[in-house]
Amino acid sequence: MGHFATALSVFLSITVAVLTVDCFSLQLEQYVESYQKTWLRTSVRYLYNVCQRVTGALLWYCKVLLGMKLRGRYGGTVDYLLIYPIKAVSSGLKVDEWEVDHFGLKHDRQYVICKYDTKKACYIPILLKEVPKLSSVHVSLDNGSFKFEYDSTTTGNKAVFYLPMNVTDDYVEHHSSFGTELKLISLWLATLEGFVLDKALNPDFIASMGLPKEAVLVYSPNGKACKVGAPKDVDRNTLFHDYYPMLMTSQESYEEVRRNAGENGKYVRMEAFRPNLIIKDVDKPFAEDFYHKFDIVGNSRIGFTGALKCIRCTIPNIDVSKGTMDKKGTISKTMSKYRRVDEANPYKSCFGMYVIQHEKNFVIRKGDRLDVLQKRAMKMDENPFY
Ligand SMILES: *[C@@H]1O[C@H](CO)[C@@H](O)[C@H](O)[C@H]1NC(C)=O
Ligand SMILES: *[C@@H]1O[C@H](CO)[C@@H](O)[C@H](O)[C@H]1NC(C)=O
Repeated sequence: MGHFATALSVFLSITVAVLTVDCFSLQLEQYVESYQKTWLRTSVRYLYNVCQRVTGALLWYCKVLLGMKLRGRYGGTVDYLLIYPIKAVSSGLKVDEWEVDHFGLKHDRQYVICKYDTKKACYIPILLKEVPKLSSVHVSLDNGSFKFEYDSTTTGNKAVFYLPMNVTDDYVEHHSSFGTELKLISLWLATLEGFVLDKALNPDFIASMGLPKEAVLVYSPNGKACKVGAPKDVDRNTLFHDYYPMLMTSQESYEEVRRNAGENGKYVRMEAFRPNLIIKDVDKPFAEDFYHKFDIVGNSRIGFTGALKCIRCTIPNIDVSKGTMDKKGTISKTMSKYRRVDEANPYKSCFGMYVIQHEKNFVIRKGDRLDVLQKRAMKMDENPFY
């Protein structure tokens, strides 16, 4: 009887603790999401994270024992996926299902447009904020190739070019003056090796986009290591992604920014945030900021780590339907009012979560469910970009 009473009281205490944390988690999350660093906030974040670890583990054991499908908390469902075969070009290929490989969504950012930097003696990417028009290109799939459609300024008509999904040595040899010789590309803090496909882009495209004449297409077969914020046992590389394999955003977060941006910001599109994995049906806008360990459950169950909130530059101010930059920065201004939530970046707004897949060669589908195993109040501890 004594043992039973002890066990019951332990069980009840744990239940009460779990419920208490759950009751206040919304308020705690609001409190810790701030750019102001104070000892109180640091302590609350620490407590919140410890509690989430405990409740996450308890939930997991209970639900696994009970044989339930979700082992954590329901975190929404996959809505759609976006793939940008050439970094910065197009507003993405929108699909309901797609394969994930070692690098992220298959073929995402496998190409980039670069110019040669003589000082650094390497190629550097041309950024979307420098040439916003690149976002107006339309990309689709066409019999094993990516088809790119754009408005040609020389002919005044639509023009097209194709790039292969799978790049073969043969393709490289035919489209590069350097054969299969690897060249260095510098992307933020990382250096990658790639093939310079200087014969792949046609001069009409370069002129129509207003790209510098020396712009060349680059393809990287192996990419760069992605370590900051990644689990130690996960060996991950990314291609011309800024750093992480995927950016996850939610419809709820987007709708809220769109509503707050008002008439002047009506042009805003999800694509301008450059996400890959768009989820919906989350508890509240920006709930995804707290998804630290989660599984995507569809035909299979795949583990993910939420590594870092995405610190935004001016790109969300691009009207991707026209390929123009809103010089007033309406979206940046809107977000600056309430999305400065990382104390390591007090003057920058956050939107979206960089996530890392623990496995490779699986498929993500619309309707797959997010099973959030551990929430965490994260901030940037190490900057992988600059
Ligand atoms: C698709 O591509 C393959 C190989 O490149 C080619 O043999 C085939 O004729 C193409 N099909 C169409 C419909 O264009
Ligand atoms: C690309 O290569 C993969 C195997 O590496 C193959 O499954 C796929 O069908 C290829 N795609 C095209 C369009 O050739």
